[in-house]
Amino acid sequence: MSGVGGAAVRGPVLVVGGTGMLAGVVGGLVRDGLTTVVVARKPPDPAVFGSHGTGGGRLIPVSADYTEPVRFADALRGAAARTGRFRLAVLWVHAGGRPHAYAAVADTLADATVVEVLGSGAAAPSAPVPRPPDALERTRHRPVVLGFTGPGRDTRWLSHEEIGDGVSAALRARRGDEPYTVVGRVRPWEDRPSA
Ligand SMILES: NC(=O)c1ccc[n+]([C@@H]2O[C@H](COP(=O)([O-])OP(=O)(O)OC[C@H]3O[C@@H](n4cnc5c(N)ncnc54)[C@H](OP(=O)(O)O)[C@@H]3O)[C@@H](O)[C@H]2O)c1
Repeated sequence: MSGVGGAAVRGPVLVVGGTGMLAGVVGGLVRDGLTTVVVARKPPDPAVFGSHGTGGGRLIPVSADYTEPVRFADALRGAAARTGRFRLAVLWVHAGGRPHAYAAVADTLADATVVEVLGSGAAAPSAPVPRPPDALERTRHRPVVLGFTGPGRDTRWLSHEEIGDGVSAALRARRGDEPYTVVGRVRPWEDRPSA
């Protein structure tokens, strides 16, 4: 268990898509002593997670493709058999892969807290409020939307470090009344870099 001044973060933790922009989140979880299963297609180079292992945590890399749901579900069940039931999951899955990927992880996530990382489009004025996907309705669903940063209209997309720091903070924050947590900002919507 870890967490300073916020909610306790309990392991084991599952991070799907944790070798790119979320590598810093994985490194932080392991440094905090948590057993962390990180899933991506390519076996991750441990160096991407920064210095880990000093806090007694364990990093378990799993190579699996979430567009192959049967094999993906098998790989996750195998990981959960090693670690015990996941208490927390961070899911960064491209939109097209979500229905299959979420159905595949659902088995291993009953009663877990699930942080679903979403692109800025989830906060567009025309977008519906993010709701728990059907497959994850038995979980505690915590959407985290990646926004942009910068003053006024002088904005840019978040760096990997900013994304990692923001998602890590969201894992430790107590749940507020908002329907989702934003990393950076998404308002005014017209200020986003691609507008
Ligand atoms: N502000 C925003 O709204 C926003 C939103 C989204 C992205 N971005 C930016 O856009 C950049 C590109 O995004 P990205 O998605 O390439 O992020 P990324 O986090 O750098 O990479 C995607 C992660 O998912 C894994 N992955 C991808 N496809 C997979 C599959 N089929 N099965 C299992 N794992 C899979 C990747 O590993 P493998 O390739 O080894 O599978 C990797 O761990 C990011 O670096 C970020 O800066 C910004």
